Amino acid sequence: MNPCESSPDLEHALREAWSRRQPLHDDPDIDVYRIFHGYTEGQNGLDIEKFGPVARIVWKNEENLEAETLRRTLIELGDFETIAVRQTQRRTVERLHGEAPEEVEIDVQEYGLRFRVRPFADENSGLFLDARPARQWIREHSEGRRVLNLFAYTGSLGIAAAAGGAQTVVHVDGKRNALERARVNHTLNELPVDDRSLLRGNIYTHLPRAVRQGQRFDAVILDPPPQLPRIKGRRPQGQDFATLARFATDLLEDEGWVLCFFNRYDKSLERYEQEVADASDGKLQPLWRGTSGDDFPEGELRVTAWIKR
Ligand SMILES: C[S@@+](CC[C@H](N)C(=O)[O-])C[C@H]1O[C@@H](n2cnc3c(N)ncnc32)[C@H](O)[C@@H]1O
Repeated sequence: MNPCESSPDLEHALREAWSRRQPLHDDPDIDVYRIFHGYTEGQNGLDIEKFGPVARIVWKNEENLEAETLRRTLIELGDFETIAVRQTQRRTVERLHGEAPEEVEIDVQEYGLRFRVRPFADENSGLFLDARPARQWIREHSEGRRVLNLFAYTGSLGIAAAAGGAQTVVHVDGKRNALERARVNHTLNELPVDDRSLLRGNIYTHLPRAVRQGQRFDAVILDPPPQLPRIKGRRPQGQDFATLARFATDLLEDEGWVLCFFNRYDKSLERYEQEVADASDGKLQPLWRGTSGDDFPEGELRVTAWIKR
């Protein structure tokens, strides 16, 4: 990536995006959010996120990035200590300023909840920033509930439930490494955690077994990846809510809620919601509809909470 000449257009777009987020900059309780959402803010293929003193740039295009404009403007606006670019097509990470990016591991804060992130180590940092409104909703609706956090990754959604007074939280994920990071995140927030609440395994094996054993929950979080991996020779259809919402309904007490994250764009929200409603035989009814926060002006993520009646 060769630095190009300074671009007044990009610099202007960055400054505009920065001033739109002034309420977030002024809030001492949050230091992790998107500071530039290229698709709607002036440079398609470019996203920039703030992780405390670190700026993580993601560049999805082949052509050269205006790296010098970005470096200079970001230092001026946010006084960042480390700035690096992840080029998604070439799968490279390039340092523009400060520490070697792969080594950066820091603790960030979202409305009093703390998370340990590695902004450049993997494709994902360890915290999905567009799920912030969902984390807030979960925190406000978990008091006294037994919560099952499926596809838990580093645990942020279940940690929001625990912080909101959940009676128990069980995280399930296929990756040991992700669950170890969930354990660290619990500890950072002084929330108790033990091996019974961090279950490693295939969710398609776990769910039928939990139903057979008569397990019951008051809340289930369903955040499957956009394309589920092949399982026992079967390739699930996309996020497979047709199967997952059926199991969630079987595990839920009446008046319990399910939260479904829709991470694909090949179907309308209405069709996804119909899939969930059908899978539950009409027992699940929509309760709340959320999107990503104002720092994602496109409202990328769609999430629906359902109540079992
Ligand atoms: C989109 S991430 C979930 C993000 C998470 N809910 C959060 O907010 O941080 C998807 C996760 O699903 C896990 N996963 C995918 N298929 C799985 C399966 N069949 N069984 C268990 N875990 C699975 C992956 O390991 C990954 O951590």
